[in-house]
Amino acid sequence: MKTITVLGSTGSVGRTTIKLLLENRDKFEVKALAAGNNWKLLAEQARLLSPSFVAIENCDAYKPLQEALDGEKIQVGAGSEAVVEAAKINADWVMAGIVGVAGLPATVAAVRRGALIAFANKECLVSAGSILIEEARKSNAKLIPVDSEHNAIFQVFENENKHSIDKIILTASGGPFRTIKLSDMELTTPEAALAHPNWKMGAKISIDSATMMNKGLEIIEACFLFAMPENRIDVIVHPQSIVHSLVAYRDGSLLAQLGSPDMTTPIAYSLAWPERMAISQQLLDLKVTAPLTFEEPDNVRFPALNLARESIRLAGNSNLVLNAANEIAVKGFLSRQIKFTDIVPFIKTVLDREYGKEPISIDEVLLMDRAVRQSANHFLKMKMNNT
Ligand SMILES: NC(=O)c1ccc[n+]([C@@H]2O[C@H](COP(=O)([O-])OP(=O)(O)OC[C@H]3O[C@@H](n4cnc5c(N)ncnc54)[C@H](OP(=O)(O)O)[C@@H]3O)[C@@H](O)[C@H]2O)c1
Repeated sequence: MKTITVLGSTGSVGRTTIKLLLENRDKFEVKALAAGNNWKLLAEQARLLSPSFVAIENCDAYKPLQEALDGEKIQVGAGSEAVVEAAKINADWVMAGIVGVAGLPATVAAVRRGALIAFANKECLVSAGSILIEEARKSNAKLIPVDSEHNAIFQVFENENKHSIDKIILTASGGPFRTIKLSDMELTTPEAALAHPNWKMGAKISIDSATMMNKGLEIIEACFLFAMPENRIDVIVHPQSIVHSLVAYRDGSLLAQLGSPDMTTPIAYSLAWPERMAISQQLLDLKVTAPLTFEEPDNVRFPALNLARESIRLAGNSNLVLNAANEIAVKGFLSRQIKFTDIVPFIKTVLDREYGKEPISIDEVLLMDRAVRQSANHFLKMKMNNT
């Protein structure tokens, strides 16, 4: 039996993971679950899966969570240290499904003990890329990408023929505003930006998809996961989200992975790796799929892509700043403090102000991340006062 810990079990990725675990009780034993605030769902998941430990980051949720699990043989912890404790428990496989850099301490704890990490939390790789990869190398931890694009590349990336790879091609749905005018984007609401045409995801990644910063973060993620330079990672808009990404080989072969726009397949792939497991979802039927189309991304309406590329070229702490500023800007937009079209210029301003030397340890990443957030929050307040 593979032993399992799910970090971020109450989120979109987390819930899909739990569903697969419940459908395959004979194959997996759950050791720990961790979440942020949603103690009710966490308690429900814990009652169904009987882990030995559950952690909730919000300390105010400790009491109700403990009461909800009264009588169960499940230890309950609260606070960010408890989330890290959950990651340290000796499970073979860990879903890194917390959103944002908030997930970094727990993800690193799992990496340091050499676990097999199903890697969904892209913000960790963006902010701590080379340090995290080095930590994984030292501990022999295996990172299986869960982001559907990177999971697709992982499936068709021939490591033994790496020298024959010309480039990686990430597909992008284009998000909910793929075809709308820039002037209309200015007036858009969080509700409209959250309504992704193909994918059901958490709020933060949904807004990132609408600005296409998600694809920018994914370019950075791909650089670290596949040790490829930015100029060999292309982006193509594919509105149907069926082709999840491609690898182009020098002999003209394009190898792609196809599937429904649903996280079940990449999560199932990471759970069963190096084997494969059956899923209960209806499989993709190409006969009923709409024609598959591809188009160039529009860098004028979606400047986030070029900003992410600029950040990679800048090096130093730029990716960390880009990510932290983006997390603050997304929160600002969701709470209606800034307009949708303010998001990318806001990130650019923070990047210009906070660009500096490269962090050399996880502790330094966390310190810098905190400082950039403070500065970005301050800038957000100034911006609000001026409008
Ligand atoms: N959703 C997708 O389809 C998808 C696809 C590819 C990649 N990803 C990546 O996967 C990650 C998760 O995305 P998501 O869409 O699943 O996000 P989500 O629905 O917002 O879920 C986030 C999860 O993280 C937990 N969390 C937040 N802050 C925490 C903290 N400080 N400590 C512990 N737990 C915390 C949340 O707990 P509560 O809800 O209890 O507060 C929740 O379980 C992101 O990095 C995203 O980019 C997601």
